[in-house]
Amino acid sequence: MASSSSLALLLLLSSLAVFCTLSEAESSPPIVKGLSWSFYESSCPKLELIVGNYLKNAFQKDIGLAAGLLRVHFHDCFVQGCDASVLLDGSASGPGEQQAPPNLTLRPAAFKAINELRALIDKQCGRVVSCADVAALAARDSVHLSGGPNYPVPLGRRDGLNFATQQATLASLPAPFSNVTVLLSALAKLKLDSTDLVALSGGHTIGIGHCTSFDNRLFPTQDPIMDKTFANSLRRTCPAKNTVNTTVLDIRSPNTFDNKYYVDLMNRQGLFTSDQDLYTDSRTRSIVTSFAVNQALFFEKFASAMIKMGQLSVLTGTQGEIRANCSARNAGSRSGVLESLVDGEGEMAVF
Ligand code: HEM
Ligand SMILES: *[C@@H]1O[C@H](CO)[C@@H](O)[C@H](O)[C@H]1NC(C)=O
Ligand SMILES: *[C@@H]1O[C@H](CO)[C@@H](O)[C@H](O)[C@H]1NC(C)=O
Ligand SMILES: *[C@@H]1O[C@H](CO)[C@@H](O)[C@H](O)[C@H]1NC(C)=O
Ligand SMILES: *[C@@H]1O[C@H](CO)[C@@H](O)[C@H](O)[C@H]1NC(C)=O
Repeated sequence: MASSSSLALLLLLSSLAVFCTLSEAESSPPIVKGLSWSFYESSCPKLELIVGNYLKNAFQKDIGLAAGLLRVHFHDCFVQGCDASVLLDGSASGPGEQQAPPNLTLRPAAFKAINELRALIDKQCGRVVSCADVAALAARDSVHLSGGPNYPVPLGRRDGLNFATQQATLASLPAPFSNVTVLLSALAKLKLDSTDLVALSGGHTIGIGHCTSFDNRLFPTQDPIMDKTFANSLRRTCPAKNTVNTTVLDIRSPNTFDNKYYVDLMNRQGLFTSDQDLYTDSRTRSIVTSFAVNQALFFEKFASAMIKMGQLSVLTGTQGEIRANCSARNAGSRSGVLESLVDGEGEMAVF
């Protein structure tokens, strides 16, 4: 009797567990046509395991790689969609996305890791997984393995055939000197709202920035909003305009994905104008405060915003290709195909 009722309980619990997983996916943002939560379930069932195991090991040697991979996925998605165009090595075909100024500091180690993952995945599954999907999964694991939320990644992206020009790259990525007005309107074009803006900016809870990204706040005059002690410490790192040096984005916990970035902002210790203005501007201030006092809320909103960002103008179905080498288009793929893809506008939904 006891055992049959505990069996019934077990069955009930396991069906509840299934229900919970489903409803979790259901409460996530909608997914675009052509992507799916289980895209490689039969073609590459070990995909997420391969990526996770590789990165766990890699982060033990260099935790900075996590920040590098997260930023690569952000740049990929904001510039002409999450199509792995940022991974293309422009040097062979003239300057592309990697050669535009904002790249400045995309870490070579991140590109290398994506290519190594690509090789490992190929060995197990053949060439079925796109570089754009590898970048999206690597970004998720970078967040999760450095202490942040785990979230499901809809898969099925295809790799683009064309570079983004330097101009397109510059136009698509907001500058660190931007205020909230500029940031909100840039994100609105991508159907991302103020909560998405504040949550995604929380990516700056890990990683580093160069003096040139924030020395506008020190020279010629000091931004009066910046905490004085923090400013003095930044002046030691960047004693003059255009010093070549770096500092951490989140002074409280630079390598841990947590909500301390928002605590920094409340203490006027945000590094970029684009960070600090989120707390100065009345449209976003209360969102900053709500994340600073509630990490679970931040994690939930961050995951939701990443799922949205990860679907910006994706290529799906038979569009684009699956690259053999994430740094280069497949031999024989024609750049002229770009025009016909762009013409098929309806398929390149913003998301
Ligand atoms: C909202 C507009 C954003 C602006 C203006 C911005 C700007 C920047 C700048 C200027 C840097 C430092 C570059 C350097 O000086 O080396 C940086 C680094 C970084 N950004 Fe952003 N970013 C934005 C949004 C995002 C988003 C949405 C994410 C990811 C969710 C992200 C993740 C990162 C990470 C992880 C780093 C550190 C990279 C490293 O250590 O290699 N950023 N960002
Ligand atoms: C990034 O852009 C800068 C300036 O445009 C360029 O000098 C540099 O070589 C580029 N870096 C990479 C990795 O392509
Ligand atoms: C935000 O920046 C833009 C562009 O630099 C500027 O025109 C605008 O006046 C600024 N808005 C505020 C509220 O500071
Ligand atoms: C770079 O920053 C470090 C740490 O703040 C500082 O000790 C060093 O002097 C700086 N380098 C230059 C060239 O200013
Ligand atoms: C991948 O492509 C890049 C850029 O063309 C090239 O430098 C690199 O050698 C290629 N890697 C492999 C393994 O073929």
